Amino acid sequence: MPLILGIESSCDDLAAAIVRDGTEIVASRVQSQDSVHAPFGGVVPELASRDHIRYVHRVVDETLQAAGCTPRDLDGIGVTTGPGLIGSLLVGVAFAKAFAFQHQRPLLAVHHIEGHLASARLEAEPIEFPYLGLVVSGGHTALYRVASLAQIDLLGQTRDDSAGEAFDKVAKRMGLGYPGGREVDRAAETGRREAYEFPRPMLKNPGLDLSFSGLKTAVALEVARAEDSNGGVLDPTVRSDLCASFQEAVVDVLIAKTERALQRTGLTRMAMVGGLAANRRLRERMTEFAEQHALVLRFPPIQLCTDNAAMIAAVADRMLLEGRIAAKDVEAFSRVPMEMRP
Ligand code: KG4
Ligand code: ZN
Repeated sequence: MPLILGIESSCDDLAAAIVRDGTEIVASRVQSQDSVHAPFGGVVPELASRDHIRYVHRVVDETLQAAGCTPRDLDGIGVTTGPGLIGSLLVGVAFAKAFAFQHQRPLLAVHHIEGHLASARLEAEPIEFPYLGLVVSGGHTALYRVASLAQIDLLGQTRDDSAGEAFDKVAKRMGLGYPGGREVDRAAETGRREAYEFPRPMLKNPGLDLSFSGLKTAVALEVARAEDSNGGVLDPTVRSDLCASFQEAVVDVLIAKTERALQRTGLTRMAMVGGLAANRRLRERMTEFAEQHALVLRFPPIQLCTDNAAMIAAVADRMLLEGRIAAKDVEAFSRVPMEMRP
């Protein structure tokens, strides 16, 4: 029954968690920086890493306390080494290296996206392999065939912006505040989904790749038009309609590509993970889709969709079992494809 401490600091959330046996969350903490970045309407990398330095000791200590354990009880320490913002990653990696060395515990270097894919296994009833993994996060939008956590094959990915980036940029353009995705989700609730006919990018393209940059631009043009016709101000009702119509376009594309990926691979199980998997409309539509197609669908609870350290500990648990211990001089990488992961 290995007990693993996970540490995640790849972007603007600093998280620590203790997971038993790769599936049971004993304690989990996430220190959000929303109030730090909100005045700027997006993540300011330098502020993110400075804030991580300020809190990393405290968050790890609190997590150990909440779990009622000491460093001696731990069997290993997992840390995200990439991809992400390099300054942010370095804080977690430097801390984890020192902590592992001080307490003479093995260190495991975890790929952030593998962490998201593993988040679907942190449940009472973890999804069985193989499954289709739809990763919809701030940095990534991709489809994978997950045969096991050790064998993950990319099927398709976005050619430009991620769906999360599109949400964040659309939110910023409409003055909806930060973090943007959640605000668009909220504003869309009272909007009309059919009010605007936005493009569904890459649907005519036969492959599994995606694209969201054109859709983002189409929304920005419509926002400008709506402002121009209303004395330079975006009417809140129109804004809600724009959000609902934009969100529907993203969801349509994600469902269509998912359906295509399932047909191609013959998979009958799928997990939807990453920050955007917290989106209420996406959860609702994907649930309907799964029911219609007798598909086993899992998406994590909201707190495990967005960045967290339990998913990092879950991957580290498997790496420890396989003896894939990180070298003492392990480094952080801002960009590292899944096939190059540790
Ligand atoms: O996975 P995540 O926490 O961080 C990355 O690894 O990137 O994902 C963050 C992304 C952001 O783009 C955020 O706006 C989006 O997830 N997000 C949402 C919602 N909650 C978070 N997007 C749409 N609807 C939501 N409810
Ligand atoms: Zn993430």
